[in-house]
Amino acid sequence: MKVSRVAAAGLLAAASLYSVLPAAGSPAAAAGSHSPDRPLRELAGRQLLIGTAVDHAAYTSDATYRDRIATEFNSITAENVMKWEVVEPARGELDFSAADDLLAAARRNGQQVRGHTLVWHNQVPGWLTAGVESGEIDADELRGILRKHITDEVRHFRGRIYQWDVVNEVIDDNGRLRDTLWLRELGPGYIADAFRWAHQADPKARLFLNDYNVEGLSAKSDAYLALAKDLLAQRVPVHGFGAQGHYGVQYGFHSASEVATNLGRFEALGLETALTEVDVRMLMPTDNVKLQAQAQGYSVLLQGCLLARRCNSFTVWGFTDKYSWVPGFFEGEGAANLLDENFAPKPAYREVQAILALARR
Ligand code: XIL
Repeated sequence: MKVSRVAAAGLLAAASLYSVLPAAGSPAAAAGSHSPDRPLRELAGRQLLIGTAVDHAAYTSDATYRDRIATEFNSITAENVMKWEVVEPARGELDFSAADDLLAAARRNGQQVRGHTLVWHNQVPGWLTAGVESGEIDADELRGILRKHITDEVRHFRGRIYQWDVVNEVIDDNGRLRDTLWLRELGPGYIADAFRWAHQADPKARLFLNDYNVEGLSAKSDAYLALAKDLLAQRVPVHGFGAQGHYGVQYGFHSASEVATNLGRFEALGLETALTEVDVRMLMPTDNVKLQAQAQGYSVLLQGCLLARRCNSFTVWGFTDKYSWVPGFFEGEGAANLLDENFAPKPAYREVQAILALARR
């Protein structure tokens, strides 16, 4: 998807200097021009895909959750059910049923689907890690297993996934290839192999690198830039760079222009970019200051994406605090999403609405 963003960029540059949310009682608030109460996907129009991760269990049990996904978003990512441990719980027994459910729903809702994720060091099936640990599975066999996994999964969803996170989190915070089972057993070439195998299985899907702590300029994003250049020089079919966008209000944020500059250097190599897992957590309990800071966190990532030329999807990692991964993974933290536990909009939701409305051409 190619969209010219010249007009949007001008507006957004101005918006980043001032708060885009007018104070109550100000002329703009009176006119209502900045508080459009319309679903995000409508406000996004054709300028970018606005997505959410979907928790399959919540999707099955909670009608409010289901309805909100349909009205607010035009893209979805399976939060867990496309991961290896879910799709191949026992060796050779493939189970795509939960992911297929979500894809069927996406089709009904006119939504596109991001694929997440083919190669990661987490949520790998127990039979695989145990086999490697015991020496039962050697490097040669492991390479074949990885190839089969990528081929089976990408083929199963062929033609229905617009972007695949082919490798997830393969560089550590110091900018070195992450020490994982894949690197230890297969050497650094596993990354190029993964992209080649995925491309063979679905030549039309756009194939992404994806990681956290790469939204701004850093040793880690520098390392990704070097990796992307290296892969492209070897003619590896890599098409995109995804920044997850897991922020915490206590750490502060990049500026929107730094995010745009960072994405821009990947785009200069010919890649697409995306924000793939945005959430902004905080130490609990919440208060108005933290909620306002959170809105700012969402704002800089969305503006960074809109200011970049080829950032074509912006996905939040869940949209309601009712079903967030944060409390389970970050002790004492939570409230990371756009809507609260009762699906009521938080300041962050209003901010995202305002930015989308402002950027709309
Ligand atoms: C998380 C899910 O949200 C949790 O439900 C699961 O238990 C663990 O994984 N980076 C990623 C995502 O790429 O796949 C992770 O999702 C969050 C961090």
